[in-house]
Parts: sequence; structure tokens; C-alpha cells
Amino acid sequence: LQSIALENIEDAQTLAQLEEYKVNYLGKKGEITSILRGMGSLSAEERPILGQMANDVKEKIQQAITDKIVSLEEKELLLKLDEEKIDISLPGTKKSVGSLHPLTLVRREMEQIFLGMGYDIVEGPEIETDHYNFEALNLPKNHPARDMQDTFYITENILLRTHTSPVQARTMGKRAPEVPLRIISPGRVFRKDDDATHSPMFHQVEGLVIDKNITLADLKGTLLLFAKQMFGEKQQVRLRPSFFPFTEPSAEVDISCFSCEGNGCGLCSQTGWIEILGAGMVHPNVLEMGGYDPNEVQGFAFGMGVERIAMLKYGISDIREFYNGDLRVVQQFARG
Ligand code: PHE
Repeated sequence: LQSIALENIEDAQTLAQLEEYKVNYLGKKGEITSILRGMGSLSAEERPILGQMANDVKEKIQQAITDKIVSLEEKELLLKLDEEKIDISLPGTKKSVGSLHPLTLVRREMEQIFLGMGYDIVEGPEIETDHYNFEALNLPKNHPARDMQDTFYITENILLRTHTSPVQARTMGKRAPEVPLRIISPGRVFRKDDDATHSPMFHQVEGLVIDKNITLADLKGTLLLFAKQMFGEKQQVRLRPSFFPFTEPSAEVDISCFSCEGNGCGLCSQTGWIEILGAGMVHPNVLEMGGYDPNEVQGFAFGMGVERIAMLKYGISDIREFYNGDLRVVQQFARG
């Protein structure tokens, strides 16, 4: 019995098998146990001898099982370690570092310039009412100038704002008769337009200043200062007469192509000037609707195209590059 048992134990391949042998030999119904139990029928001389033998065998088997458990456990551990081995020679996967979109960079730079001149930043909704987008800006229903901006309507009175100018009306409504009022409002605007220089969604930064004794000279000085900070000291601006229903007089404002380099200059080349914004003196009707007395205060306002400025600054010739989702475009602006 002993030699068969020891052999079996030695041959055991798994811990489960070993457990089975343990039950077979040493368990309550196991072979050794039944031998020890059967000793009652033996004579007094035989009993201690056989008892001694049986106990020896039991101990040996016990020991063999314990040893085997240790060695099997060791084996299984080694196996597991081997399976889970990490190949440290495999090349790693690099995490890519994100970068800010060029429009974000330019918008932030514009914000910094105006914050430095004492402006507050305010925001307005992209889904706007007809009232704020048009009527409060001196554009009553059926006004021919409404055709200037191809509008996406949601309902008869709700639309996607075509410009950031409704934020002028909203802010006046909230803050009048506060002076001086100096705000800029960056944000998305929407028009039915789609080509290399126009996108159905683009960004503007609106500006509005209201105070006593504000003149067109303040507007021009402000825009010149902005242009110099954005594009460099030698930058010039020029105002061309224009029309907006919410400003009088109105102007379109060009910057000189002096600092233009690269592809974006294609926008510039013929005249040496490029339009970057619309502006003017706030129309008395707009001041009045906003809660200001046009006999007491004046204001100027402007609306700049962020894409335009980014295209010039970074030499991008197609506005659609900003929205095509190609990471290579964005990554050029990653900072070290
Ligand atoms: N809202 C005008 C546009 O989008 C720009 C503008 C703003 C003009 C403020 C005058 C004053 O074209």
C-alpha cells in the first residue's frame, strides 16, 4: 500500500489530483483509516505493532503529499509567471499631445488685446430671436438690408444668429444707462454661404463702446491699436464708407497687407489692403432701443471675422481648412 501510494503521489500532475489521493488514503473512508479502525479485532500483541506500522505509513504518505503540494505549487507559479511574462523589448505606444485650434489661439489673442484696453467679455446665444438679430438693430421686418445676410431660420421668429451684433442689443438692454460700457463678444455665427473664403458657420468678435463724447476717431484709434498688436507695429488700417442699418456712419475696415506672408496673402495681393471687419457709430435708434439717450451718449461698434484674421496671420488660403478635422492642420500650432 505504501509504495503504491507514494508512487501515485509522486506522479500526480495537479493539485486537484493530489487532493483526490489525500482523500483516498487518509480521508475518513480512506484505506489507512479503515486499517486503523479494523485493529479492534487483533490480539493485544499484534495491535501495537500494526498500529505503529499504520501510523508510520500514514505519516510518510502525509509527508509525501505535503512535499508534493509544495513542488506542484512552485511549478504552477513558474508556469503562470512564464505565461504572464512582459516583453520589455516591445516598442511602446506614444501618447500624442493635443494642441489648440488656430481659431482658439487667435480668439484668445484678440480677447487679450481688448481685455488690456479695459473691455469686458460677454457672450450671447447662437440661437437667437428675430428681435435681437434684426429688429433691435434697426432692421424691421421687410427691411431690404435683411437680404444682406442669408439667414437660417428655425421658425418665423427664431433663427441662427447671422452676426454677433445681437449681443450689443442684449447688453445695452441689461446694462443701460451704464457708461462707459466697453464689451467684446466672441462667438459663432451662421449664414448660407459656402466657398473658399466663406463658411456657413464662422466666428466673429463683436465690439461695443458707449460713453460720453465718443467719436469716429476713437473707433479708428482703437482698431489701429488692435491691428498693431495683432499684426505688428507697422500695420495700417483704412476705413471705407459702407452701410449697416445699425451704425451711422458705417465703415468697412481694411488692414494693410504689410505683414502678410505666405498663402493667406492671395487674399490680399491686388490692392495691398484686405477687409477684416465692419464697423461704425451706433445708430441713434439702436441706442434708444437699448435704453440710452442718444443726445447724452454716443457709441461705436465693430464686428470682426476671426477666420479672416487667422487666415492672414497663419497664411491659410482656404477657410475650410479650419473645419476639416485634419489633425495635421491643428498640430502645426502645437507649442513645444
Ligand atoms: N454685424 C456686421 C456684420 O456681421 C458687422 C458690424 C458690427 C458692423 C458692428 C457694424 C457694427 O457684417
